[in-house]
Amino acid sequence: MTQLNLADLFPAEEQIPAEHRINQPIEQREYLIGGEMKPWNGATQDVLSPVLVKTDAGLARKRIGSYPITGPDEAMEVLDAAVKAYGDGRGEWPTMSVTDRIAAVEQFTRKMVQKKAEVVRLLMWEIGKSLGDSEKEFDRTVQYIYDTIDELKSIDRQNSSFTITEGIIGQIRRSPLGVVLCMGPFNYPLNETFTTLIPALIMGNTVLFKPPKHGTLLHYPLLEAFRSSFPAGVINTVYGRGNSVIPSLMESGKVNVLALIGSSRVADKLKKMHPKSNRLRAILSLDAKNAGIILDNADLDVTVKECLLGALSFNGQRCTALKIFFVHRSIAERFVEKLAAEVEKLKPGMPWDAGVQITPLPEPNKPTYLAECIEEARQDGARVVNEHGGQTAHSFVFPAVVYPVKEGMKLYREEQFGPVIPVVPFDDVEEPIQYLIHADHGQQVSVFGTHHEQIAHLVDQLVNQVSRVNINAQCQRGPDTFPFTGRKDSAEGTLSVHDALRAFSIRTVVATKQTNANKDIVNDIVNNQESNFLSTRFIL
Ligand code: G3H
Repeated sequence: MTQLNLADLFPAEEQIPAEHRINQPIEQREYLIGGEMKPWNGATQDVLSPVLVKTDAGLARKRIGSYPITGPDEAMEVLDAAVKAYGDGRGEWPTMSVTDRIAAVEQFTRKMVQKKAEVVRLLMWEIGKSLGDSEKEFDRTVQYIYDTIDELKSIDRQNSSFTITEGIIGQIRRSPLGVVLCMGPFNYPLNETFTTLIPALIMGNTVLFKPPKHGTLLHYPLLEAFRSSFPAGVINTVYGRGNSVIPSLMESGKVNVLALIGSSRVADKLKKMHPKSNRLRAILSLDAKNAGIILDNADLDVTVKECLLGALSFNGQRCTALKIFFVHRSIAERFVEKLAAEVEKLKPGMPWDAGVQITPLPEPNKPTYLAECIEEARQDGARVVNEHGGQTAHSFVFPAVVYPVKEGMKLYREEQFGPVIPVVPFDDVEEPIQYLIHADHGQQVSVFGTHHEQIAHLVDQLVNQVSRVNINAQCQRGPDTFPFTGRKDSAEGTLSVHDALRAFSIRTVVATKQTNANKDIVNDIVNNQESNFLSTRFIL
């Protein structure tokens, strides 16, 4: 076995292309509250990149800046600002016309686009995402905002008319829910956060936004755009340790919606902190361990290509990643050899390197955890199939194909969220079905095969275990118009461009009996454009 010398891939400062360098650390000393950037003189959190640089003293994680560690008192002030802006549903923002709210979001988006280069650079440095994927994340987010605006226009058009049934005239629209606490994950710190934050805002809610631990600084360049595009207090930021600032927010009972993309353990704890859980709506995207089921008749070229993408895009750090493979025993050896050969071709490097596929991992403890998983599997009879699998240098871990994995190993049930590919051989397809039935997760599955009867049987078995069955394709969230959800510990609520607008609002009806007097009242209100809600104005 040869060594990859992964440590040699870390650059000296002068080897980093000038356009991707962070010349000055970004020291954030303010946070957004009530329409102002409030100065912060308290404790701060250093941000150390997963990218190490060569220094005279050896390799060291590059310090790229710092941000405030606000405490429970500041969190409560921020909450008060959001509560005030909502104004019991009578604030400027929740009562504003849909057209005007859309205009504010459009204004924000124009300003956001101007910050693309800064945000993309910070995505690379903060979470080690490749340049191409960081740009994709930014562009996809902007597209998501524009699609959300179009979808809201379309919903609003449908709601701009009256329904008359059983002598009752009604107009049905969607109203905001109140104060939303919005927390996103480190792997898509911009995109996944914005897929809840933007729908929450545009539906008229006010927001407390807590950026993820890895992936905080990249939001800093956008705060001025938020501040100047929305009325005071509509969007506010919270920083610091989750377990210090979030409990008091939840225990206040003033958070109406918890939008969390993270772990089910945290979601469960937070929900229970709310004094009136019936008043709390939760939109959650949580743990997943999506399985690939590879039948004996699978086209191995297509399968290996999709499995590689599914398991290792962004080093396997996607909630939708394929995190375990069940392969029919008759082709298992061939599959792992072919997959291992493809894994060996992947290019490790710095996020800005052309064609890079494996990059440093942002979670400091992840390399140790992955090494433990691999070692435990080895002790129990599995092997690392590819030559350089599991080789590690600081934050780099070269992907490992581990085979044969079995019940009892960490890799069998735990969500590794990193570049390790567990492969389990099976004799009867009932085995992976039973695995899914007994799993805590229920997000997606991928089925690989060429026999339609067999695929049809599996589809019918699996659609009641997970929320998306992919045929001869990796698991993924997109297109963003598709519903993204999961069963069991994988999700609560559904996100898509359309569904998210529903998730952050409630249908509200204004109704009256169909008498001449009432008809006159409604006609006067509509004709004189006296109400933002009771209206037939049509957004073009
Ligand atoms: O981390 C989970 C993301 O929602 C996955 O999105 O499937 O488009 O990579 P993706």
